[in-house]
Amino acid sequence: MAHTPSGSAPSGSTPSAPAPGPRLLAVSDLHVGAADNRAVTESLHPTHEGDWLLVAGDVAERTEDIAWALRLLAGRFAKVVWAPGNHELWTMRDEPVQARGVERYRHLVELCRGLGVLTPEDPWPVWRGPGGPAAVAPLFLLYDYSWRTSEALTKEESLARAHEAGVVCTDEFLLHPDPYPTRDAWCRDRVATTLRRLQAHDPSVPLVLVNHYPLVREPTRVLWHPEFAQWCGTDLTADWHRRFPVAAMVYGHLHIPRATRYDGVRFEEVSIGYPREWRRRGHPLGLLRQILPHPVAGPEGAARAGGGAPEAGA
Ligand SMILES: [Fe+2]
Ligand SMILES: [Fe+2]
Repeated sequence: MAHTPSGSAPSGSTPSAPAPGPRLLAVSDLHVGAADNRAVTESLHPTHEGDWLLVAGDVAERTEDIAWALRLLAGRFAKVVWAPGNHELWTMRDEPVQARGVERYRHLVELCRGLGVLTPEDPWPVWRGPGGPAAVAPLFLLYDYSWRTSEALTKEESLARAHEAGVVCTDEFLLHPDPYPTRDAWCRDRVATTLRRLQAHDPSVPLVLVNHYPLVREPTRVLWHPEFAQWCGTDLTADWHRRFPVAAMVYGHLHIPRATRYDGVRFEEVSIGYPREWRRRGHPLGLLRQILPHPVAGPEGAARAGGGAPEAGA
């Protein structure tokens, strides 16, 4: 799906001047169910006909909205790669398709295939543009409640405390794990399957990992509500950025756009977030984040280290 970039000003560009060649760009948490976020999504354009776009989950809840956004982006970018967020996996009560859990995920994968959008079920495409080669691996890993506020707590105790604090992710009511007994069982299976693929990957080819959740817990330390971390990832992936040749790890979900490094590896939180969030903090690192080629450190590089307002996102 090669497309000519729009002739209009690239309002979705990063704050620094874009490189002259094609770029590997990323965004997440478009939440296009919100009208103002629909307008943000409509403003996203490539700056080069060869630009790829990584979409790290939480496009929307309703299939119709997910399809609208991915169709729009697939029509503009040379390649679009999607990893599911928790919101896509919700089974909304007013959805015409009431598929749950794995069945809903498969339904979304088929939707993406119809649009030419790559998913975690496809072979990993190799970016051969500037900064490449790098294999782009969209992941679907979920969470397993291991990021509890205290290691002394069981999952049940941790959830009980979250209920007491009034900080409960809506996943508990709308993200069904069927046919798995629990979301954490589904997570463990996804992690095991993904780990086998990573172990089979040629280690001479760097990886760009795209997952809705960070692979490490550190980014959740700044959450306004620490109880929310249990819905944000799993300890099972804590060493993946060291075990595998990771050039960059792209994630969202926290609604705290920032660029950090853990053990020297780039982690990029690329979320747009809800209108009430971006009206307050703006888009400090732009709407679309440049993943490859690696951005050159400069005045903007200093800003890239900054964090966002710590608040529980979803
Ligand atoms: Fe999310
Ligand atoms: Fe989100």
